[in-house]
Amino acid sequence: MELMEVMRRRKSVRNYTDEPITEEQLAKILQAAMLAPTSRNFLPTNFIVVRDKELLEKLADAKDHSSGMLKKAACGIVVCGDAEKSDTWIEDCSIAMTYMHLMATELGLGSCWVQTRMRKKNDGTPAESLVREAMHIPAGYEIEGILSIGAVDRELTPRDEKDLKDARIHYETFDSCGE
Ligand SMILES: Cc1cc2nc3c(=O)[nH]c(=O)nc-3n(C[C@H](O)[C@H](O)[C@H](O)COP(=O)(O)O)c2cc1C
Repeated sequence: MELMEVMRRRKSVRNYTDEPITEEQLAKILQAAMLAPTSRNFLPTNFIVVRDKELLEKLADAKDHSSGMLKKAACGIVVCGDAEKSDTWIEDCSIAMTYMHLMATELGLGSCWVQTRMRKKNDGTPAESLVREAMHIPAGYEIEGILSIGAVDRELTPRDEKDLKDARIHYETFDSCGE
């Protein structure tokens, strides 16, 4: 698919079928992560591939809402960054998450970003600490979030180009308005 077509088809998909994703699909998603740029090429990004159902349930329970799709996902990829290696680990991890999200779309898979950084359960427990414990993530590595991935039973339909609003695009100075 042309890149613009992939971008127009990318949506946050939170419902998956029981079909597993193939090794080839997973390999391509991880290659996309490896191709993502990092500041000064310090490569602080790390990816934990989770397919074990019990572990996926633990990850889903790291928050009280907006993470339940991980229970149905064929795979979750926890993205964490070596904060000692680079002060841009958040940016680097975010770009890698986005690359994987787009590659999943290219492969016809559903995927969704699950935010854990700065999020807490209703009882105040940081989502990040639950993910760290479940994944055995050592100190010094900060957790960006999780990409849930799964098969879908329908084609991802592209957004209409005419629906792309341009009011957030400014030319030369901020006070120009695109709309
Ligand atoms: C940084 C970031 C964090 C997000 N966190 C969550 C999340 O925790 N749970 C969720 O269901 N969706 C999450 N999303 C998905 C957004 O809700 C979604 O991208 C937005 O509503 C636009 O929908 P679209 O992705 O289908 O275009 C997140 C997206 C981003 C970029």
